[in-house]
Amino acid sequence: MARTIGILTGGGDCPGLNAVIRAVVRSSDTQGWDCVAVLEGWRGLVDGRFEELGPKEVSGILPRGGTIIGTSRTNPYKLDSGVEKVLGNLHDRGLDALVAIGGEDTLGVAARLHHEHQIPVVGVPKTIDNDLSGTDYTFGFDTAVAIATEAIDRLHTTAESHNRVMVVEVMGRHVGWIAVMSGIAGGADVILIPEHPMTVEAACDELRRRHARGKSFSIVVVSEGYELTYEDGETRLVGGEARATDQFGHVALGGVGDVLGREIEQRTGFETRVTVLGHVQRGGSPTPRDRVLATRFGLKAAALAHTGDFGKMAALRGDDVVAVSLQEATAQLKTVPPGWYAVARAFFG
Ligand code: F6P
Repeated sequence: MARTIGILTGGGDCPGLNAVIRAVVRSSDTQGWDCVAVLEGWRGLVDGRFEELGPKEVSGILPRGGTIIGTSRTNPYKLDSGVEKVLGNLHDRGLDALVAIGGEDTLGVAARLHHEHQIPVVGVPKTIDNDLSGTDYTFGFDTAVAIATEAIDRLHTTAESHNRVMVVEVMGRHVGWIAVMSGIAGGADVILIPEHPMTVEAACDELRRRHARGKSFSIVVVSEGYELTYEDGETRLVGGEARATDQFGHVALGGVGDVLGREIEQRTGFETRVTVLGHVQRGGSPTPRDRVLATRFGLKAAALAHTGDFGKMAALRGDDVVAVSLQEATAQLKTVPPGWYAVARAFFG
């Protein structure tokens, strides 16, 4: 009798999810395994919601953004009998393996379920934030950086025409990978990220220095998780206040760009406008690099599932896709190291 793999996508969607699903389904089909979609992340396993997922269902989805099997930020550990329901539905649906495609939250649940209940799970690292340790890059990140870079390029021409400072707020939650990479690629004049919090005063000094050497416009990229930091030691995380947390304890971020833009205009006198890129960074078709990475991750995850090598995550190390421990990969966030921020800083002001 054919064995069966369940596939779920959890957390924020991201370009490349469908490419992973396609790779798992196609290679499983070749190996004589059936696949089943677990709908809307861990919620589908809690509620027992499944759908058939074969080569026909995945035909044509490689370039498509989002996820054809839905996603949610459900944490079974936060629901009444959530874990028991997951275990029961895994058993009742006859799943021999589970491929969980997600970020630190989704894969954190996978690691815990494997550790505590030995569920047969393998992980695939997804997130535009690129904050998962254990892998050099997550898929979805390259697309987000490409979208943010294109926005910065477009903002350059209008900034220059009007002699304005343009503040661009990008996503990334508590890490500044999208800000640093798109800022370097787009030639930003100041980049503000959570890991290396430059003060607002210092950022304004950089803009004044730039304008003093004859430039009449500037581009500032700020990561949504940057805490406004002042010389007197005061800090402020915008968006964190008075907003509900999700089942993983995260507050919804967003809004720092507006506050920063007002600060810059008041302190420097330079006319300033703000653009918040938001979910545009997560939508649409993946870049070729993300399609290829997602495909390689999917093939690796399927191979791990077929051989019963559970508790592992497909990961990129250099140019190789390897298997790493799920537990280690979810133990801590991968932040932007000082060396990367130094590359960005070399072009400030
Ligand atoms: O983790 C991906 C991400 O896009 C973060 O960069 C952002 O803070 C968050 O998800 C937004 O979540 P939501 O889609 O729930 O608004």
